[in-house]
Amino acid sequence: MSTHSNVIPDGEPMVRLRDLSVTFSGGRKPVHAVSGVSLDVRRGEVVALIGESGSGKSVTMRTLLRLHPERRTRIGGQVQVAGRDVLAMPQRELFDFRGKVASMIFQEPLLALDPVYSVGAQIVESIRRHETVSESEARQRALALFERVRIPSPERRLAAYPHEMSGGMRQRAMIALALACKPQLLLADEPTTALDATVQIQILLLLRELQRDLGLSVIFVTHDIGAAVEVADRIAVMYAGRIVEEGTARELIRSPRHPYTIALLKSRAHGALARGARLETIGGAPPDLSALPPGCAFAERCALANDMCRAAQPAAVELAPNHRARCIRTDAAAAIAPVLVA
Ligand SMILES: Nc1ncnc2c1ncn2[C@@H]1O[C@H](COP(=O)(O)OP(=O)(O)OP(=O)(O)O)[C@@H](O)[C@H]1O
Ligand SMILES: [Mg+2]
Repeated sequence: MSTHSNVIPDGEPMVRLRDLSVTFSGGRKPVHAVSGVSLDVRRGEVVALIGESGSGKSVTMRTLLRLHPERRTRIGGQVQVAGRDVLAMPQRELFDFRGKVASMIFQEPLLALDPVYSVGAQIVESIRRHETVSESEARQRALALFERVRIPSPERRLAAYPHEMSGGMRQRAMIALALACKPQLLLADEPTTALDATVQIQILLLLRELQRDLGLSVIFVTHDIGAAVEVADRIAVMYAGRIVEEGTARELIRSPRHPYTIALLKSRAHGALARGARLETIGGAPPDLSALPPGCAFAERCALANDMCRAAQPAAVELAPNHRARCIRTDAAAAIAPVLVA
């Protein structure tokens, strides 16, 4: 098989992370942003990554496109996307890979779009960088993309500069740009956080529709558990650089078994929790990533933690097919899980 083939070998997931670790060495002490993350995303599957600020969600996403500053970043483990070894890819191939196999949409499109070119020009440029097509053909495709993401007056809007668009329009334009070279994997890093509530829902619905129509695999980072349940097939919960619980969206919401997931669910203000459930905030702060404890990183904040939790890193426990948690207190955790209404 050619290394440039976009065909995934039989049985291979779209994304396969094995024991991924990412350490930044620029500052005074090394920062262990991601530790021992293993995750598969199947073709056509939507996986949501959730967790508090600083838990390593964006670092994990950026690793999939190898976007970190190479000199100050140490990456361990395996990163495979569409059957390709991302960490071993030569620069030339990486260039082709970004946009054509996997592409990313960000929270703030103003930072990702080039302010001095019209959005249309950026899409045309991206298409022509990856494919041998004429200018007019690329323009036609850009127009079709704008229609696809339902930007009104698409012809006129293609000539607009990013700052001339509203936040919602800009995010649609960013999605069009990300889809320009027909990627198979879309990485969406909090794509709706910067938008107001009604626009958030519209963008979420658009993403879900595009994912289904185009058969995309998606990793979707969000702080909003409600949004994760709405769009994702599976949810992975990150804490201090590790995936602490992972399962189908339904299983994870109905039977959360890691005390951190439970705390996150209980901190939700509305939605599928029992009536009268109090809004709880998670006490304490996440650990210093340059001085991680030997045991479970959540132990410090966990009401169920014992000496064993603090002594060693808990292994992943298989709770059901497709449901795992890194916790030795999952039985006790079951008793404090929130009860769903439906
Ligand atoms: N290039 C870098 N150099 C040093 N540290 C970094 C670098 N990039 C990220 N970090 C650190 O890695 C940790 C994880 O960051 P990351 O951006 O993945 O968090 P996150 O889960 O995406 O949080 P948020 O929800 O706020 O976006 C943070 O402590 C961050 O400061
Ligand atoms: Mg982030």
